[in-house]
Amino acid sequence: MKLHGTMRINQAGHLEIGGCDAMELVRQFGTPLYVMDETLLRDNCRAYVESFQKHYPDAEVIYASKVFSTMAMCRLVAEEDMGLDVVSGGELYTALASGFPAGRIYFHGNNKTPEELEMALEARVGRYVVDNYGELELLNELARQRRTKAKILIRVSPGIDAHTHHYIKTGMIDSKFGLAIANGQAMMGVEKALGMKNLEIKGIHCHIGSQIFDLDSFKEAAATMMAFVRDIRAQTGFVCEELNLGGGLGIHYTEDDAPRPAGDLVAVIAAAVRAAAADYGLPLPKIIVEPGRSIVGEAGVTLYTVGSVKDIPGIRKYVAVDGGMTDNPRPALYQAKYEAALANKMNLPAEETVSIAGKCCESGDMLIWDLELPPAVTGDILAVTSTGAYNYAMASNYNRNPRPAVVFASGGKAELVVRRESYEDLVRNDVVPERMQSKVACLA
Ligand code: LLP
Repeated sequence: MKLHGTMRINQAGHLEIGGCDAMELVRQFGTPLYVMDETLLRDNCRAYVESFQKHYPDAEVIYASKVFSTMAMCRLVAEEDMGLDVVSGGELYTALASGFPAGRIYFHGNNKTPEELEMALEARVGRYVVDNYGELELLNELARQRRTKAKILIRVSPGIDAHTHHYIKTGMIDSKFGLAIANGQAMMGVEKALGMKNLEIKGIHCHIGSQIFDLDSFKEAAATMMAFVRDIRAQTGFVCEELNLGGGLGIHYTEDDAPRPAGDLVAVIAAAVRAAAADYGLPLPKIIVEPGRSIVGEAGVTLYTVGSVKDIPGIRKYVAVDGGMTDNPRPALYQAKYEAALANKMNLPAEETVSIAGKCCESGDMLIWDLELPPAVTGDILAVTSTGAYNYAMASNYNRNPRPAVVFASGGKAELVVRRESYEDLVRNDVVPERMQSKVACLA
């Protein structure tokens, strides 16, 4: 298991995160527990911000809050002088409740409701990343009613297939996100926006995918977007001031992953934009990127308590933990792979191959298949690494399991940033109609 950020093995042979002994964290906060390495979170933010300062100062790094949205995280992002990408009323509410400056918020999403747009207009968010023609009309009308002008970027699909890095035009036209450059719809969107009185178009946006290792895909996206900026100028006279290239940089989950540092991505993007601007005689646009996974992914560790251990001779040994697909649905959803170790037995050699099961009533609730571990017994603490991205964010209450707590650990101190859900929380919104209440009374 790779030790990320401040993770280390202490003298007791325990895993330590942010200077905190994992066993002490478990005693204090219980399991399952999401532990975020605050130092690594901040280092990851700074890697982007400082690389842009070096390569392309007219830039803004905005954190994609869908990846891990909590009030403390929004605060941290504000402290790191970054902007924030939100995609729903709930993420917007979280950001505003944390005191995040609305002007640094970008509102994304392919189907923003009128209520969500009203909420954003009321808060005066900085930018709307408009996905489609219907949204252009709706936002223009809502802004008109408020006698204001909404500043927008148009989300376009540049036709980059990040996985094969081939230019599959038709494939990318068939997407629920954005307007394709290839079939002319993106240009039409820009023209429509330019004609709308209550919208002020500032530029264009794209996002080519997630968990991407190949920097050529980002380079190609930047080049394609700059060619579109050129075409927009030729066709309409409008010169884009802002170019948002989305997120997507890959991280380490297992040894099969070979992530590139954020600084390399920034250098590649900056060079591609500069080269295209020079070629086309365009002014340099402000570059915006919106990383998520590469900010929080490797900073997260989930701690679980081992419960039942079931050996099926000649077949497999199942080691079950007190969480599972409820706190980490990614293995079930995407066949995602993770590394793990026993936090209380870090120095013991791996002697057996086991599979880590969750506690949900579902055979597919498996966190890791075929993991090498020292002999695991009930009460051991399993640490799964790289769980900071899209784990808490996608957690559910399946089987009425309460969501775990989240702590930020740094400098030997751990602080709660999300309380563990209680059973009371689970029934908080339940309503028993009155006619049923009387029946229960009869039964009693
Ligand atoms: N910007 C936009 C418009 C996005 O749609 C996304 C992610 C990001 C930025 C951040 O991308 P990142 O830097 O995190 O790759 N639930 C899936 C991933 C879904 C990605 C959604 N969009 C998973 O667990 O792998």
